[in-house]
Amino acid sequence: MAATVIDRIGLLVTNDPSIGDGPLGLLRNASVVMEDGVVVSVGPAGQTADERVDAEGRCVIPGFVDSHTHLVFAGDRGDEFAARMAGRPYEAGGIRVSVDATRAADDDELRRLTAARREEARRAGITTVEIKSGYGLDAHHEARCLQVAEGFARDTTFLGAHVVPPEFEGRTDDYVHHVCTDMLAAARPHARWIDAFCEVGAFDADQCRAVLQAGRAAGLGLRLHANQLGHGPGVQLAVEMGCASADHCTYLSDDDIAALAASDTVATFLPATDFSTRQPYPDARRAIDAGVSVALATNCNPGSSYTTSMSFCIALAVRDLRMTPEEALLAATVGGARALRRTDVGTLRVGARADLVLLEAPSYTHLVYRPGVPLIACTVEGGVSTPRN
Ligand code: NIG
Repeated sequence: MAATVIDRIGLLVTNDPSIGDGPLGLLRNASVVMEDGVVVSVGPAGQTADERVDAEGRCVIPGFVDSHTHLVFAGDRGDEFAARMAGRPYEAGGIRVSVDATRAADDDELRRLTAARREEARRAGITTVEIKSGYGLDAHHEARCLQVAEGFARDTTFLGAHVVPPEFEGRTDDYVHHVCTDMLAAARPHARWIDAFCEVGAFDADQCRAVLQAGRAAGLGLRLHANQLGHGPGVQLAVEMGCASADHCTYLSDDDIAALAASDTVATFLPATDFSTRQPYPDARRAIDAGVSVALATNCNPGSSYTTSMSFCIALAVRDLRMTPEEALLAATVGGARALRRTDVGTLRVGARADLVLLEAPSYTHLVYRPGVPLIACTVEGGVSTPRN
């Protein structure tokens, strides 16, 4: 494959402090050479290659790493959203509406819907995506959703413990047993991770621990939905189990923050969810100041956060979670990579995947400064470009 240079980059964010200034590893008047889908050189403007793209002074950042999505689903819950905006609270039970629609959709339809969302995310600058199941909720449909997901993502997550499906109503422990046995066996060939929703109205700490232990025994990595709708045991459980990430973390006690700070578990904030469910925003400032490793993700799903815009999440993170633009950008790139335990994405250094975004702006600060404006001029994923529509 021919080598390509992106030349005349006004401001390059490498996320590697050994390459450039500050935590973002900033270089001015830079160029990046890529070949066979990986970065082969990062340096001053003027490097040469077989092909040349002129960035004309734009800012270039690493592609966004979206470490929490639920992209495989059918159906629409716009009415539920509108009712919420009129005052109805968000409830985990709404998930069942998407389960009915997803079970009713055939494989081709699910693949078509997922492909459209993945493409939308790519045009929004997302070059790595994690995808969970969780709208099948039986062995056949969970495996089917994960088979669709693995066509679009390396990081696929079995979320059988999302809510209790209607056929197990009132028998949560029986359902957890089913998740840990037959469903896990069906999902395992198509998943890298296991997750559970630790929340009132979903599963308690003991039930989630059982799911995570079964997943670990089957060779899956661990993640957990924790402390989304209120204080609870989720964050402590995620740390106890050595989860790669505790996701949501909207409600964090001092003990939760101390436990996260002393662990390898990444706190993944999903601020578009708090926006879309009228929840308070998490106190990211307090977590970061205490030394917690953080990520930002879209949580794209039909119920609590139907967006593929990481730029929107970054804007919320700065405006409402009190992160700096630099912290928010790091969290949406290398933070997401850490949450997925990956080192091949999230940075722009020699050997990394050639995943980057050209911004229609001179600086990444414009992602916050110009909220809602389509600033993603071009997404390059594995060296392949997708220009804005
Ligand atoms: O991460 N919290 C649990 N799962 C999703 C919401 C799913 C839904 O409402 O459909 C989330 O927010």
